[in-house]
Amino acid sequence: MFSVTSFYSKMGCGSSHGEVEETRTIVVFGATGLLGGSVVQELLTDPLKFRVRAVTRRPSSDKSRKLAEAGAVIVTANFDDTRSLERALEGAHGVFLTTHFWEDQNKEKEVVRGLNAIDAAIHCGVKFIVLNGSESIKKNIGKPCGHLDAKAAIEEYIRHIGEISFTIIRLPFWYENFLTVFKPHRLKRGRYALPLPLENKPIHAISVEDVGRCVMRIFEKHRTYSGRTIGLSSERIGMGKILHSFKKHIHHTTFVDSKMRVKDYENFNFPGSKDVAAMFEFYQKELDERDLKLTRKLNPHIVHFDRWLHLNKDKIEAIIKDNEEQEEDEDK
Ligand SMILES: NC(=O)c1ccc[n+]([C@@H]2O[C@H](COP(=O)([O-])OP(=O)(O)OC[C@H]3O[C@@H](n4cnc5c(N)ncnc54)[C@H](OP(=O)(O)O)[C@@H]3O)[C@@H](O)[C@H]2O)c1
Repeated sequence: MFSVTSFYSKMGCGSSHGEVEETRTIVVFGATGLLGGSVVQELLTDPLKFRVRAVTRRPSSDKSRKLAEAGAVIVTANFDDTRSLERALEGAHGVFLTTHFWEDQNKEKEVVRGLNAIDAAIHCGVKFIVLNGSESIKKNIGKPCGHLDAKAAIEEYIRHIGEISFTIIRLPFWYENFLTVFKPHRLKRGRYALPLPLENKPIHAISVEDVGRCVMRIFEKHRTYSGRTIGLSSERIGMGKILHSFKKHIHHTTFVDSKMRVKDYENFNFPGSKDVAAMFEFYQKELDERDLKLTRKLNPHIVHFDRWLHLNKDKIEAIIKDNEEQEEDEDK
């Protein structure tokens, strides 16, 4: 019902979808992920302005099905397959492009994939790209950081070729990391540490859900924001404020600073730990320029961490409950 893959696969670049003038088709990469998903969700709130094509390699996954039910058109494409990219991009007005590192953890692959998508967009006559970019961490602090250096190289490419209008967004740490990679770490029953290597420095942060709204606004006003690089952030936040909110919203559990340092992450052996260390060193040095005022202009309803935690406390509580139950099972 939802797959139009076969429909698009019959078309090539150059044929027209008979676009209604006011309704613009936006192709969203990474649509089944957190970031792309937030962009899809926002664009779908205004079907008169936007028609959304959600790109995935897995059109029959649950995530794809949910996107289709919400009103997105699911298109099957892979960054490694130029033809599939062209089919997905055919006749589109705009593209939200985020590439991905963590599946392969290979910077060069991420760069090639980003370039493939940009080349295909140009080939298909797409008018405008919003790109999830980054500063080069290697250039700034002399240490490699695969996932951000790759995005910096893709930025450089789109600027250098100058063949398509674009806006680059640069993201800070997002709050949703507290539910995944930086979730509270159990020390003992009822006592949890937050494993961020902040070393008493505040960092820029945002909710990924709020990024979607900012991106939608950029698509709405693409002429205004064309050619600009926009550093998004909801606030600068330090461990003190983070712990205060944890204590305020999550009861019957003690939260403490893990006191982890960038050096600790450098010495860890899990894949990507050195990339994470370099990223936090870059954050700590305050080399990331983020524009709080413009972010709020793009999304006047943006939330700070305290509000985000209030809205997501059930998810943190579920993480704590799972941990405690797991430990109990192991004790038996
Ligand atoms: N600022 C932060 O705090 C922060 C935190 C986490 C991530 N990030 C960055 O934000 C970006 C998005 O992360 P996310 O967490 O939203 O992603 P995610 O949830 O891990 O999802 C990955 C997405 O990439 C798509 N994808 C992967 N390889 C692909 C390929 N070869 N061709 C086409 N699509 C492909 C997947 O599509 P299918 O699987 O459906 O095909 C999926 O939609 C990443 O670049 C990541 O580095 C930033």
